[in-house]
Amino acid sequence: MAYENILVETRGRVGLITLNRPNALNALCRALIAEVSQALDAFMADDGVGAIVLTGSEKAFAAGADIKELLQMTATEAHELTFTEDWECISRCNKPTIAAVAGYALGGGLEVAMMCDILMVADTAKLGLPEITIGTIPGGGGTQRLTRAIGKSKAMEMCLTGRMMEAEEAERAGLACRVVPAAALVEEAVTLGAKIASLSLPVTRIAKEAVNAAYEMSLQSGRAFEHRLFNLTLATEDRAEGMTAFVEKRPAKWKHR
Ligand code: CAA
Repeated sequence: MAYENILVETRGRVGLITLNRPNALNALCRALIAEVSQALDAFMADDGVGAIVLTGSEKAFAAGADIKELLQMTATEAHELTFTEDWECISRCNKPTIAAVAGYALGGGLEVAMMCDILMVADTAKLGLPEITIGTIPGGGGTQRLTRAIGKSKAMEMCLTGRMMEAEEAERAGLACRVVPAAALVEEAVTLGAKIASLSLPVTRIAKEAVNAAYEMSLQSGRAFEHRLFNLTLATEDRAEGMTAFVEKRPAKWKHR
């Protein structure tokens, strides 16, 4: 598949998507998002892929929605085109996803990074929702996901002023799992992806679904949902293999079933 705005490769069992629109700091034009969606579909269909890393360039993960495209867009068109709804292909991905963020992750860039299951940042990362400074607000879930990740006061400050957060603060606030040196970012993210992909794919999928449910459900409902998912793992061949391997003191051989 030939792509114009992204680079796609696999490293072992990890699928790697690199946003590649350097002249626009990876601004999320509709063509770029359509390509990301196609690449994710291909990775989801590939049994050889157990985790996916989404990254950008050293300067920018992504500087947001494409403002030049947005400038031309009417409210009706945005509604008809479903616009940021297209971005949710990332949150709908059914395999574990890691955003590896160096440089700017602004507006839609941060929103897309937050759609991934894990957000890892380079020490150069600058994260923010600066839409207020161009007369609009986040439209890709930023007000919701950032508030859930870092709490109301910090999220409100960032949304109302456009202030950017640096890597250390992002980790302290619970937005990022880890800060790594910029030069090692992709390698670290792929290593993390490889660790996840070395485990049972159906069970990592189930674990992802359970954690993500915490964003959607009350504690009681989430707890009940988790219990059903736990019961579901008992029906997998990999659960039988994992527990047998433990008892037999040998490494598990996952069948991904
Ligand atoms: N859309 C389109 N083009 C963009 C862009 C964006 N979001 N961000 C950067 N670019 C383009 C610039 O126009 C410039 O192109 P030209 O060379 O053709 O002029 C090129 O990328 C390089 O950008 P800068 O010259 O501005 O680079 P810089 O290093 O001086 O500044 C920056 C970097 C601080 C990230 C700055 O580019 C910037 O503020 N970008 C916009 C950030 C922003 O407001 N994002 C929110 C977008 S709205 C949104 O995302 C809405 C939503 O949630 C739905």
